[in-house]
Amino acid sequence: MITTFSQPYTYKATLEVAHKVTWRIEDIIGGDKCLDFTKSFLPEALAGVESITCLNDTEKLILNQIRGNSYLYLFGVVEEFIVPLILQHIQRIGTEDIVATQAFLCFAEEEGKHINLFRRFVEEFKAGFGSTCAVIGPAKAIADAVLNHHSLGVALAILQIEWMTQRHYLDSVRDHQNLDPLFCSLLKHHWLEEAQHAKLDTLMVTAMMQQLNDAEIQNGIDDYFAIGAFLDDGLMMQVQLDIESLQSAIGRTFTEVEKQEIQTAQEQAYRWTFLGSGMTHPNFIRTLSELSESAAVRASEMAKSLRVNVR
Ligand SMILES: [Fe+2]
Ligand SMILES: [Fe+2]
Repeated sequence: MITTFSQPYTYKATLEVAHKVTWRIEDIIGGDKCLDFTKSFLPEALAGVESITCLNDTEKLILNQIRGNSYLYLFGVVEEFIVPLILQHIQRIGTEDIVATQAFLCFAEEEGKHINLFRRFVEEFKAGFGSTCAVIGPAKAIADAVLNHHSLGVALAILQIEWMTQRHYLDSVRDHQNLDPLFCSLLKHHWLEEAQHAKLDTLMVTAMMQQLNDAEIQNGIDDYFAIGAFLDDGLMMQVQLDIESLQSAIGRTFTEVEKQEIQTAQEQAYRWTFLGSGMTHPNFIRTLSELSESAAVRASEMAKSLRVNVR
């Protein structure tokens, strides 16, 4: 059993910052706040479309927007399993440390708002894009499959996702001038709240670990890797759906060679965006190493096998 665990976060400080960040969905999307389909939605570091030689500039822009749509849809999907896990954790800890309970309630409420925000975006996208873009799902089936794992495994997967969100915004979006302003604003507002989530999730993993014996911790770690493999399968399916969406949006059928080129570039981009950028985040690795050095080595090997080395 692990009894000591170093992390610099407190429930009180996290809750104070969370209370200062207040925005409503109506402040970001709807009314005159529309998507601009003449612009890219995702930064190239996440979209990975520029190197595809068989697409012209317009087709690359359209693929970027398809990726923007799936990016926010998939974020909505992961938040569908974050909310139930946080609610379970609140039930487990009760009200003894009331500030901790308040902080987790705030976390769950914000994720509920994010799910709602991402669904609004998907509606706006559907209305403006001009053709249908299929996505994996349904979201609840994916969330249920993830939640079917050990709660420590789910908490670690969520921790990876929370740090991943930080990296996406800070490294790729914040100083990017040419993206659609509405998409950027949406990512910025999401990031403002996610900054607290990454800290709270670290605190949650710490609290869980202190209640688990070594065998249970190992089960949790094994399940974290099983969730990673499950999510990777879903991402690879999404790549295929995106290629079909792109074909119908641009009105041409790719040759096998063209399809393979797009698939290779997009598999790598999806894996970096949704797995590698979180799995190799220094703060995630720090928590994982304290839990188990061998798990941290395994994560680095998994990142290599997915060809998502640190960028
Ligand atoms: Fe969120
Ligand atoms: Fe979050």
